Amino acid sequence: MAVLEIIKLGHPTLAKKAAPIQHIDEEIVEIAQNMIETMHAAPGLGLSAPQVDVSRRLITVDLSIGEKKEDLIVLINPELVHQEGRVVREEGCLSVPEVYEKIGRPQKIIIKGLDLAGKEKKIEAIDLLARVFCHEIDHLNGRLFIDGLSSLKRNLIKKRFKKKAESSKR
Ligand code: NI
Repeated sequence: MAVLEIIKLGHPTLAKKAAPIQHIDEEIVEIAQNMIETMHAAPGLGLSAPQVDVSRRLITVDLSIGEKKEDLIVLINPELVHQEGRVVREEGCLSVPEVYEKIGRPQKIIIKGLDLAGKEKKIEAIDLLARVFCHEIDHLNGRLFIDGLSSLKRNLIKKRFKKKAESSKR
């Protein structure tokens, strides 16, 4: 297993719609394992494949950040099948470090997808877990949490990241 590089705001893969996974082969299993390692090392509560520059529909979530095995969830081709309520809370993203903004998300969701064995999973989630799932699914659709902000705020953040990327190239 390996810790992968997490790409940052401004990278084109983050703005792309990720492709569905047709076959769960060795490569997909390896990407998932590396994503878990990367998510735990970051540390983060969730990670999507596009964030490690793999434009496929695969997410990992672990609210315990490696503490509880039963909290670790890997979902392939995740789909939101139900949502209700709305909670506004501060949110961040490993691809947009040091930025935390209040974002509205459903309070309760039902999500379905496949696990690494190809078995169909249906998960009911509330509050923080629902938030993380919605955040990661957004990544698969090329959407970042800051895309819900006003364009003024969003452009300010984007400018800041552009400057950062340019100065790190020098
Ligand atoms: Ni994120």
